[in-house]
Parts: sequence; C-alpha cells; structure tokens
Amino acid sequence: MTQDKDAPAISAFASRPSRPVGIASLGSYVPSRILTNHDLEKMVDTSDEWITTRTGIKERRIAGEGEYLSQFATDAARKALEMSGVPAQEIDLIICATVTPDRQIPATSCTIQENLGAKRAAAFDLAAGCSGYIYALAVADRFLVGGGYRNALVIGGEILSKYLDWTDRTTCIIFADGAGASVLSAREGTSGILATSLRTDGSMADFITLPAGGTMMPASEKTVREGMHYIKMKGNETFKIAVRSIEEVSREVITASGLAASDIDLYIPHQANRRIIEAVGTRLGLRPEQVYMNIDRVGNTSSASIPIALDEVVRSGKVHPGDTVLFAAFGAGLTWGAALLRW
Ligand code: ACO
Repeated sequence: MTQDKDAPAISAFASRPSRPVGIASLGSYVPSRILTNHDLEKMVDTSDEWITTRTGIKERRIAGEGEYLSQFATDAARKALEMSGVPAQEIDLIICATVTPDRQIPATSCTIQENLGAKRAAAFDLAAGCSGYIYALAVADRFLVGGGYRNALVIGGEILSKYLDWTDRTTCIIFADGAGASVLSAREGTSGILATSLRTDGSMADFITLPAGGTMMPASEKTVREGMHYIKMKGNETFKIAVRSIEEVSREVITASGLAASDIDLYIPHQANRRIIEAVGTRLGLRPEQVYMNIDRVGNTSSASIPIALDEVVRSGKVHPGDTVLFAAFGAGLTWGAALLRW
C-alpha cells in the first residue's frame, strides 16, 4: 500500500522462526440458526441475486437470543483440544481474537480459560477486526518460539449479529456468527509457521467502526436512539483497498520464506467477500481449486472465518503434510496480515 508523507507509519514484521511452531489441531462452532438471503429479502430492500453476485453469500449462521461468545469459543476450543490430545491443563496461553466479546470487562478469554479448566494458561483478548486470527497466530508464534510456552490456544470468534442494524442493508447481509479454535505447539522438523506479516493503517479507522459504547462515546439513551451501537461500514472504500493490500502482504510472507507464489498449495483467506477472494487468487496466479471458500454457507464471521475454514479443510482431508498454506485477511483498523505455513 503506498503511503504519502502525511500518512501514519505502518508497523510490520516478517519472521522465520528458528524453532517451528505448528498448528496441531482445529475445532469450530457455528450456531444452528440459518438466515438465508430470502429471509433477508423480507427484512430489508435487497435480493438474493444482489447478495449472491456482490458477496457470494447464500446463507449465514446467526446466534440465538441469550447466546454469547465464550460459549461458541469454548465449544470450538474443546474440539481442538480433543483433536490434539493436549489436555487443557497443558495449555500455557489462550488468545481470543474478537471484536465482539462477552462483555467489556473481563476479557472473554478469561471465561474460556475457566470453562476449559486451563488453569495455568495466561489469557487475553486481541482486537484486530477481521485480521484478528492472523494477529493472534503471530503473537502466539512469538511466545512459543522462545521455548517458555509449549502449547497455545488461538481462537477467533465473533457474534457480529448483536451489533448489526437489521434495517441497514449495507451491513446486515454480510456479517455472521461463529468461532474457530486452534492448538499451536512448538515442534521439531521443518513444518509450521514460516512467516507472518502484520500491517495497520489507523488513518482509515472510520471505514469499519462501532461508534458508541467506548470511552470516546459512552453508551447513553441518545447513542441508542441514534443507532450508534451498531457497526457502520464504508464497504466500497474498504473493498477497493482490500485486494491490493492482501496481495501485497501475501507476497511479503512468500518472499520472506524464500518461496514463490507458484509454491502455494492452498490459500485460506478471510471470508469477507467472494469477489475480494477471487481477485487476490487471480493476482497470485492460483487456480480456483487452490482457493478455499465457504462464504456461501457461513458468511463473513470476521476473526472466526479463517479458523472455521481451516477446520473444514483439515477435517475433510484437503490439506496434506508438506503443503504450503497461505492465510490472509483484512479488516477494521484498518488492519491486514498474512501467514505462510508448511503443513
Ligand atoms: N441490497 C441491494 N442493494 C444494495 C445493498 C443490498 N444489500 N447494499 C448496498 N446496495 C446498493 C447501494 O445502495 C448502491 O446503490 P446506488 O448505486 O444506487 O448508490 C449499490 O448497491 C452499490 O453499493 P456498493 O456499496 O458500491 O456495493 P459493493 O459492490 O461495494 O458491495 C459490499 C458492498 C458487499 C459491502 C462490499 O463493498 C464489501 O464486501 N466490502 C468489503 C467488506 C470487508 O471486507 N470488510 C472488512 C471486514 S469487516 C471487519 O473487520 C469487522
């Protein structure tokens, strides 16, 4: 992304850990309630045809009343622990990437820690919008590569439906709910995370925002009356920046790993919009079958989308030992990032 001299600095890092850290297992949870495009046609001025062609979404999963994030995240985490065989007591770190926590205080990861009985784990939340899972992966990688921490639970989870204005057709058709969890462990050999790169440009903070409820605009009768507790998004502006930013950061991790785009076996992108995913895939020279998409069934679950997709990929045997797997995401902040792994 080109920065003019007045633009805020962009922080970035790319790394090649000396001791590889790999994803040992996955788990995910999506609520049972399905909301189809035809359901939305009855709620706002939209059509199945518009939503399908503009986003690729046909249906999405929406939380029921009374459901909250730590329930989804705990379910996903339990499945990941079961797959790995790592007991909860041996988890050293829990990071829950989310912008829709159970409550402002305490962090949702603390509730997940208690639910799992992961008594020795340090736990904190991480807010990086739709890029949250990649940010959390990069942070956990740093903890594990040092050797002091052996196992980390990295979760991406959102209940965005509770922050949607169901009369705003520009947001309510896109976002959805769910959680994905992964157990990360340091390992011997050459498989694992090869490189990560994280980017931020806060000059576009108002592109995707939830204005009220923080210290800038505390919740009040007025903020509720004016709908300021709902997500606002400049979708088209975000869209335009997303494609080239994701391509750029993807190329960074590929280069940092000493590889070429042609070495990628599988691209698992944040499921924001089918058109963004396809455009990045084309720019990277990937064939459609190398690009994993579930946006038609799951919608845009923000930080949950990559671990939910990865769980599907792993459980259906679509990824094999030795495969080169690329993750990339873009979201509120604005934040974006990529991770390259040898499976
Ligand atoms: N149904 C019918 N028409 C609609 C709808 C709808 N649901 N929504 C918007 N329109 C209309 C608009 O009013 C506009 O009409 P006009 O031309 O008469 O003014 C027209 O459709 C085009 O609107 P755009 O906003 O330009 O549509 P676009 O093709 O950009 O698609 C979308 C909108 C789907 C939101 C797209 O921009 C997008 O996916 N953006 C990226 C979102 C994203 O990646 N966000 C980051 C992650 S979010 C996070 O971090 C929490």
